[in-house]
Amino acid sequence: MSFLPGKNILLGISGGIAAYKSAELVRLLVKQSANVRVCMTASAQAFITPLTLQALSGNPVHTELLDPQAEMGMGHIELARWADVILIAPATANTLARLTWGMADDLLSTVCLASTARLIVAPAMNQQMWKHAATQHNLQTLQHRGVTVFGPAEGVQACGDTGLGRMLEPADIVRELASCCATDQLLQGVRVLITAGPTREAIDPVRFLTNRSSGKMGYAVASAAVSMGADVMLVSGHVALDCPAGVSRVITESAADMLNATLDAAKQADVFIATAAVADYTPVNVADRKIKKNAATLHLEMQRTTDILATIKQTYPNLFTVGFAAETHDLMTYARSKLERKNLDMIAANSVADGKAFDQPTNALEVVWKDGHTSLPEMDKHALATALMQLVAAQYLQRKQPTHDHD
Ligand code: CTP
Repeated sequence: MSFLPGKNILLGISGGIAAYKSAELVRLLVKQSANVRVCMTASAQAFITPLTLQALSGNPVHTELLDPQAEMGMGHIELARWADVILIAPATANTLARLTWGMADDLLSTVCLASTARLIVAPAMNQQMWKHAATQHNLQTLQHRGVTVFGPAEGVQACGDTGLGRMLEPADIVRELASCCATDQLLQGVRVLITAGPTREAIDPVRFLTNRSSGKMGYAVASAAVSMGADVMLVSGHVALDCPAGVSRVITESAADMLNATLDAAKQADVFIATAAVADYTPVNVADRKIKKNAATLHLEMQRTTDILATIKQTYPNLFTVGFAAETHDLMTYARSKLERKNLDMIAANSVADGKAFDQPTNALEVVWKDGHTSLPEMDKHALATALMQLVAAQYLQRKQPTHDHD
């Protein structure tokens, strides 16, 4: 059985030693019935010849930005339109930086700018280069733009170092690509509403109470839902993250604001995912002037906020609803009890013992529903969000009711 029948895959090869594996990658992609065209950077050609890749792909290899042989002299536009997927393997640190900055001074970077195709990168570099703050920053920026990252793997490197930075093996890349393509349009037309980030509860005009939530998980879930074809609305607290490409976003302040915005948006949603870290208590009175430090102690009287997740499920019982639970202990017991208490369809629970999860790039989840359970091991929040959305899509599509607006 072939897993990529008729998919137009543009394989971008940049200049790293892992480029020697590209020949095998092309062979495996062709074996899965994909149409493969190859675009090489100048330095990639120092590691492997275009002729090898031409022979394996059955197509001429593209290397020049200005190509008189291209039908309209615009090889980059023709390739950009042709591709269903652009897969860059290996993607060097330099290539990731150039994609981040939107450079367009060679064929590969220009095609990436000119294309609306799904962009996937399989990084390959020395482990120090991978760890460097600049590379990690570039990677996060790309992921927020909806770029998918495969790997890298850990192990002994060509330079003799050991660590993260090896390109995934060609067979693993093809397997991940096939699974991405299979879920590509799974949520086509499904309206997904997501809450994310922290809330701010005002004390006086200059102070508020908040929490450590960075919003990374919720934003990664939003990106994953978009890449599966969903229409995504994000109701977010204040975070230091850009709105993911293709997502509509409303920024809210307090738990009460977030509740109102979510109640409003839920009228037109099919799936609701509550990742926000909502304040459980808010000050009873907000001082209208800045509180002066006259007294030795300060007492704040607090009252419970409304539970957004539970309220949404009560108001719209047909909405497929997914909650999150952050626990320091007895993860599964609390997860199951929250699932029942709030009448949820699914719950994703994670451990926050020893500073885990909050503001970290990685996380692990126990995903629980009425008659099932899956453990998603510790991984990058974007990969985790994709795995979670695949579970959500599977459960949602299984239980799908005719969609209608919940007026
Ligand atoms: N949640 C919400 N509105 C609130 C509080 C929580 O929507 N006012 C949502 C969160 O987005 C998350 C889930 O509820 O999806 C967390 O459940 P909750 O029982 O509130 O967790 P904790 O606050 O950790 O509860 P507990 O104190 O019982 O552990």
